[in-house]
Amino acid sequence: MYPDLEGKVAIVTGAGRRKGLGEAIARKLAEDGAKLVLHDLGSTQGDMAPAHGVGASEEMAEVAADIRAINPDVSTFQADMREEAQVQALIAHAVEKYARLDILVNNAGVGYLFGPLVDATQEMWDTVLNVNLRGSFFAMKHAVRQMLSQPVQENWGRGRVVSIGSRGSKSGSALTSSYIASKHGLVGLTRSAAIELGPEQITVNAVCPNHVTTGLGSWQNEFMAKARGQTVDEYLAAMRGRIPLGRVGTPDDTANACAFLCSGQARYITGEAMNVSGGEEMH
Ligand SMILES: NC(=O)c1ccc[n+]([C@@H]2O[C@H](COP(=O)([O-])OP(=O)(O)OC[C@H]3O[C@@H](n4cnc5c(N)ncnc54)[C@H](O)[C@@H]3O)[C@@H](O)[C@H]2O)c1
Repeated sequence: MYPDLEGKVAIVTGAGRRKGLGEAIARKLAEDGAKLVLHDLGSTQGDMAPAHGVGASEEMAEVAADIRAINPDVSTFQADMREEAQVQALIAHAVEKYARLDILVNNAGVGYLFGPLVDATQEMWDTVLNVNLRGSFFAMKHAVRQMLSQPVQENWGRGRVVSIGSRGSKSGSALTSSYIASKHGLVGLTRSAAIELGPEQITVNAVCPNHVTTGLGSWQNEFMAKARGQTVDEYLAAMRGRIPLGRVGTPDDTANACAFLCSGQARYITGEAMNVSGGEEMH
């Protein structure tokens, strides 16, 4: 528990799916008393945003209702992370609703446009990069503009940006070239922004989970197992064998790291890309 999160205003992007990392992060921040804006795309949009990869508005409303049982200050907003004007409207919504913005968690991401590099289309590459990296940049830009207009809070700072990277922010893997490029890029963005915004007492960090058992994670298991000629059980057993702590990650593992980085306890930590991987990734 981090008492200094009480009353902080936080946006969590891509938080409209049950069992997703965004839901767990939002719940954890709400448990500590943060006021929330949950964001998601809200509807499917052709092959680049299919049902298995997108939080629909009804699902986000259910997630919000669940979290309101913990803390009533939960609002929702739909925006396409690929469109700067929509991302700007998301930030404006938080400020309209709660008159300030303290925390941005960049969690929205496309982790399903996988396949051989030689078959990847420009549309696939652009979608992955434009959601995972460009959209996170848009959100950071407009959130930080707002944070800079607010005073520094004693023993906490002026603002927090936490972006959800991946083990794919540190290491490569087959069939995921655009995803891995986007998540490596997110770490570069994090480090540069941390240097630029440190003097303003805004910390900028990334959290890098390995495989997590979300809905997206389940889809990835099936895709990767099939690509390797394995059953899902065989694929997961091999994965567990590579992880020193012997299990895949849970949404709460990532949410715990996010809450810590958003708290005053982490006020001297910036520019980090923190692995949450049971020891699978160590650099
Ligand atoms: N599940 C894993 O194994 C895992 C591991 C490492 C990193 N991650 C990262 O964690 C984050 C959350 O993943 P998750 O597993 O909870 O998946 P998820 O699919 O539940 O969450 C991703 C969200 O991003 C949203 N999104 C996609 N395109 C969008 C767009 N154009 N505009 C706005 N929102 C959009 C989706 O609607 C979805 O709700 C992602 O950034 C993912 O890359 C996941």
